[in-house]
Amino acid sequence: CGIVGYIGNKKATDVLINGLSKLEYRGYDSAGCAVNSGDSLEVRKFKGRLSVLEENLNENPLNGTLGIGHTRWATHGAPSDVNSHPHLNMDGTIAVVHNGIIENYLQLKDWLISEGKVFKSETDTEVIAHLIDYYYEGDLLDAVYKAMAKLRGAYAIGVISKDHPDKLVAVRKESPLVVGIGENENFIASDIPALLKYTRDVYFLENGEVVYLTKDEVKIFNENREEVKRDIYHVTWDAEAASKGGFDHFMIKEINEQPKGIKETLIRRLDENGKIKLDDIKLTKEDLEKINKVYIVACGTAYHAGLVGKYAIEKFAKIPVETDIASEFRYRDPFVDENTLLIVVSQSGETADTLAALKEARSKGARILAITNVVGSSIAREADDVFYTWAGPEVAVASTKAYTTQLVSLYMIALDFAIKKGTITEEVYRQTIKELEFASDKVQEIINNADKIEKIADSIKDAQNAFYLGRGLDYYIAMEGALKIKEISYMHAEAFAAGELKHGTIALIEENTPVIAIASQDYLFEKMISNMKEVKARGAFVIALAKEGNKEVEKVADKVIYIPEVSDILSSILTVVPLQILSYYVAVKRGCDVDKPRNLAKSVTVE
Ligand code: G6P
Repeated sequence: CGIVGYIGNKKATDVLINGLSKLEYRGYDSAGCAVNSGDSLEVRKFKGRLSVLEENLNENPLNGTLGIGHTRWATHGAPSDVNSHPHLNMDGTIAVVHNGIIENYLQLKDWLISEGKVFKSETDTEVIAHLIDYYYEGDLLDAVYKAMAKLRGAYAIGVISKDHPDKLVAVRKESPLVVGIGENENFIASDIPALLKYTRDVYFLENGEVVYLTKDEVKIFNENREEVKRDIYHVTWDAEAASKGGFDHFMIKEINEQPKGIKETLIRRLDENGKIKLDDIKLTKEDLEKINKVYIVACGTAYHAGLVGKYAIEKFAKIPVETDIASEFRYRDPFVDENTLLIVVSQSGETADTLAALKEARSKGARILAITNVVGSSIAREADDVFYTWAGPEVAVASTKAYTTQLVSLYMIALDFAIKKGTITEEVYRQTIKELEFASDKVQEIINNADKIEKIADSIKDAQNAFYLGRGLDYYIAMEGALKIKEISYMHAEAFAAGELKHGTIALIEENTPVIAIASQDYLFEKMISNMKEVKARGAFVIALAKEGNKEVEKVADKVIYIPEVSDILSSILTVVPLQILSYYVAVKRGCDVDKPRNLAKSVTVE
């Protein structure tokens, strides 16, 4: 979910709608706002996209210069008008927006009902409104503190009250929240893009902090109610970067931004001699010698990047690596001790399961290295060391440029560990960095030929099922390719290790089933050709991905997409790009909402 709050001299709903439109990637199944109009709190909230709320406000405006807004991704209670935020106390004098989950809400709800409170919705959030009301004796800040003491779970909340037309109170606990500082106006938001139209000066809040805003003042308090001083962070990136810039969708814009993101991620970590510098990541040769196990933990696309990372670190640095899904890792009591390095990968830096996995590993003594795209994100702040990907803000729900920059980061980490440990020669080290430097141009070449991939999309757009096959590194890319097409085009797709298909799944291949076969690994090329023949013989429509020059593949495949020449180990940065483009065009041709696929959210800050 995404929250925004405003206090100042402008019409609050204008600021809220603008801010929420930048947060829709956090969820978009309903939206709402509450405004203090002087003598009451006025609330509008609707199931559906933000545009539903916006149209209502256009027809029937709300005046008032203090307000809170919300865009929802349902957790407790189906998307509906009544479950939308804000939620209010019984007499409608206190309104709350919330991002996160209140774990003990059922107990609190029972207790509040026994105290005479009547609930309207099925949400956990409504508990907060009644709880604040229960403790409210004229001092809103005090009531919020007392309510917090009862709440368990992860939450960021914004609160306004009818009695206080000059006050906005917000809390950050395990869920993201930033404060925007303006002139005669101040803001809260789940993420910076929501603020950029109005201000570039922000405060990041720490866990457990409460912020009190009037239009000319921002005060931050810690859990003990002591005021704390915070430095202002000045945002330097461009608001334009967070808007579509001429492309039909954010996703295709972000696919096109990959050459830049790859280059940027690389050059920021290369010194004048072309060597990798991880100076702020203080893992010395001695530290590395102590590390006998690496876990890479993440969710979704970032998890797929982690699989490639395992391959690279094992190959170059000779340390055993296990890649795991964060929601599994956190509950399976993994073997972790002070000789373990945990690498967490997260575009947003806010994914609840990834953050919890980090904390779990840290409590067992592991050292934590985060790879993330968002400066100041929760994961960045909790980790011992951070490697930032420089993809720029990613808005489309389906991750593209974050993924390729995660790959570059993992390769650089693997190479750095390896050269420090002496497990690769200086020559291999230099050669591989050179190749990484060329990757950006090669990705550009693939993007320049997107129209050929668009034509191929035509031939599979009506299929119900597709299979993605690969061996070695290509298997991990197959997984990412299949996820991409599922997410945005709703075509059912599965990835298989090509050699495993015949042990069951091949039964599903019938006339014209698309099979996307990735064959970029020279040492496995012949094996992949055999696998293509197997499915072809059963009627599959085979689309092959191969390195330029490997013409043999044309004899078996119905369509071939060539990628520029690249070493086997680095091929993943290239092979994923045609698969992203293919998914994009299939989704467009199927009439799907590419940037905001149904049921998904960009940043999942609930478990
Ligand atoms: C969500 C997104 C995915 C993303 C995953 C992990 O499910 O829809 O695209 O890969 O979260 O997100 P993170 O921000 O941790 O990389």
